Amino acid sequence: MMGMSPRISAFLEEEDPPTPCLVLDLSVVGRRYRELRAAMPFATPYYAVKANPEPAVIRRLAALGARFDVASPAEIEMCLECGVPPQALSYGNTVKKLADIGRAYEAGVRMFAFDSTREVEKLALMAPGAQVFCRLLAGSAGARWPLSDKFGCTPELAVELLQQAAKLDLTPYGVSFHVGSQQTDPHRWESSIATAAMVFTELQAAGIELEMLNIGGGYPAQYLEEVPPVSRYGEVIKAALDRWFGGTDRPLIVSEPGRYLTAEAGVLRTQVVSVRRPCTGCDRWIYLDAGKFGGLAETEGEAIRYRLATGHGEPANPVVLAGPTCDSVDVISRQHKYSLPLALDIGDTVDFLSAGAYTASYSSVGFNGFPPLRTYCIGDQS
Ligand SMILES: Cc1ncc(COP(=O)(O)O)c(C=O)c1O
Repeated sequence: MMGMSPRISAFLEEEDPPTPCLVLDLSVVGRRYRELRAAMPFATPYYAVKANPEPAVIRRLAALGARFDVASPAEIEMCLECGVPPQALSYGNTVKKLADIGRAYEAGVRMFAFDSTREVEKLALMAPGAQVFCRLLAGSAGARWPLSDKFGCTPELAVELLQQAAKLDLTPYGVSFHVGSQQTDPHRWESSIATAAMVFTELQAAGIELEMLNIGGGYPAQYLEEVPPVSRYGEVIKAALDRWFGGTDRPLIVSEPGRYLTAEAGVLRTQVVSVRRPCTGCDRWIYLDAGKFGGLAETEGEAIRYRLATGHGEPANPVVLAGPTCDSVDVISRQHKYSLPLALDIGDTVDFLSAGAYTASYSSVGFNGFPPLRTYCIGDQS
């Protein structure tokens, strides 16, 4: 199991930054990108900017040849400021304001997702001729952070919508799906790939040749539970593509990794603010200076269980972990009892490992007056 990168340890030791903070090692981002490319050479990665929109991350990935999945004009502008050309951006959010589509189109973005007839109409109005792709509903069993039925449509509707797009002078470009974030089952892609193949075939019969299949994100990071290596995802997805799309003359395959690229590059350092001793029938509580509103939003429902590191050793016993705000939902872990050292006391640090994704970008702008989570980017900036 991976621990903390030596570069992050040295930074924390030497700089002793104020807490809470996220320290991100860009060399790890680069390594993860290369590992993903090696595991899935058949897919062009569009990094899901929402996972960690730090400009240094975008620049690092752009230098390695990544493209980008964006969800709003602000993410588009950030990518452009980092030197990413608009042709390397895909506007993957299916929920877009008219004006936002217009801003993206003016900026040169030409790839857009949709999943309903109203969204096709908006795209036709504001992004004439653009390459549009339809998001399919996808099962996300096995995902620690499922995406449910908020996005996507049935394959039957996708066929209709892509034909509607053609009639409205858009370019029907392809289909996409997302099997849920932190997807622990590599086989989860297969049924969506099969469904996508059906959509391709039906449209071909109607005279429309789709060019792109977007297999989304979901490739997991290492938290408390072990997950299969990314090479396993590559093998299983490749086998499914071969089965449903054939080994040659396949459409362009696009992936949208987020968490996989940045999670393990980051450590979220917190400090113990308070300790409540256990009593009969009550647990030991440890209150940290970051909680659900300070970067640990994915502890909602205890979906993501981070690995923790402290400066103390045994003896240890179970604790309830909570954040510093006045909201009672600001509890990090209650069902899962972390066993933390008895010596852990006020002022000590608690580090959340693999915390580089969906932490800083989820932290509140100032709930209870606590500032958003600060990020320090270290390592290879080129
Ligand atoms: C459309 C889309 N693409 C990509 C991603 C990135 O997913 P992950 O971080 O699990 O790889 C998400 C995450 O929610 C998403 O909604």
